[in-house]
Amino acid sequence: MKIAVRYYSRSGNTKAVAEAIAKAAGVEAVPVDRNEAPIKEPVDVLFIGGALYAYGIDANLKDYLGTLKKEDVKKAVVFSTSWLSKHAIGLIKNGLTDAGIPVVEEFFYVRGKPGEDKLKDAAEFARKFL
Ligand SMILES: Cc1cc2nc3c(=O)[nH]c(=O)nc-3n(C[C@H](O)[C@H](O)[C@H](O)COP(=O)(O)O)c2cc1C
Repeated sequence: MKIAVRYYSRSGNTKAVAEAIAKAAGVEAVPVDRNEAPIKEPVDVLFIGGALYAYGIDANLKDYLGTLKKEDVKKAVVFSTSWLSKHAIGLIKNGLTDAGIPVVEEFFYVRGKPGEDKLKDAAEFARKFL
């Protein structure tokens, strides 16, 4: 099974979740603005995450979602962090759905900075899809 983890994180909260998921999956968590971010070989599961900034997701993540092709992603699983709102989950899901990519209904969300317990939960969550 081929797995990819992509994320955008300004201050590290979403990055920590991405890395916990990636570790569980045995892959690298790659920021969407890195050269290696494009999905070059089809994946069975794409874990993709980002945070909410002033009611929106970062333009880097938004642009990245626009580059994804349904032929390359069998299904996507979304994760996010924020102060309070889970709105980024919906925004990311919409971007994926617009690209015709099936999105798993369940998602992983952490309010604020994830502690060790939440990182454990993230890994456990990820294992359901591996
Ligand atoms: C400029 C800015 C705007 C934000 N706006 C919101 C918001 O509207 N709602 C919310 O719940 N959290 C908001 N947050 C909180 C972030 O979503 C939260 O700190 C998140 O964990 C940051 O993820 P990151 O560390 O991966 O960048 C905002 C943070 C910043 C810096």
